Amino acid sequence: MMPAHVIADPIGQPDALSPAADPFARIVDAIATQGFAICPGFLPMDQTLTLLQHCQALQAEDELHSAGIGRGQDFHTNRFVRQDRIHWLEGTAPAETHFLNPMAELQTRLNRELFIGLFDYEAHFALYPEGAFYKKHVDAFQGRSNRRLSTVLYLNPDWQPADGGELRLYDPGDPEQVLIDVTPQAGTLVVFESECFWHEVLPAKRKRYSIAGWFRVNASTGWRVDPPA
Ligand code: OGA
Ligand code: MN
Repeated sequence: MMPAHVIADPIGQPDALSPAADPFARIVDAIATQGFAICPGFLPMDQTLTLLQHCQALQAEDELHSAGIGRGQDFHTNRFVRQDRIHWLEGTAPAETHFLNPMAELQTRLNRELFIGLFDYEAHFALYPEGAFYKKHVDAFQGRSNRRLSTVLYLNPDWQPADGGELRLYDPGDPEQVLIDVTPQAGTLVVFESECFWHEVLPAKRKRYSIAGWFRVNASTGWRVDPPA
């Protein structure tokens, strides 16, 4: 018999109300202790697939653009670094709320428990066509950006090891050392400190869909825009 105060969740886990079953608490805890979090099943599959369909619709409408264009980047140089095609979320499409609502909740929890003063969140859909990669980089250089935490949600059902396309995180203490390779599996959310973690996307052998985003603090440097977005 379960104690009266324990309410089983729809899939019957008796510890549904304990902190261990709360993905937000697990992410906050992992960020506080190790600076990164990997959370499989962060988003339910039906919502993840709705986001995937939305991204594929954008692709069909030719609304995914080579990253860097229109932001003052050198397109040709950029192609050696990253080959994803992106579309910034505007918060208007109904499908986006499946993603933006839980991210707003995550922002609230991170601020409440870690006092990091996250001020806003920006995110884009990304498609890595077959063979595409993103070379080793950091998302924010110390003192030059207001990006504090990077996030990536993956949208690919049934991703196989042979499909490649892993997110490779490097050890913040020794950026030559691989820390972990993350499979870009549908529903998995990765969060890491933007200034501390060098990372790359290994060549994807099939189309790889994701939403990359950044929690930011309100500390504009005034003279420089964020690093390549
Ligand atoms: C990025 C990035 C990682 C990924 O967009 O800056 O590093 O796994 N993405 O898609
Ligand atoms: Mn990155």
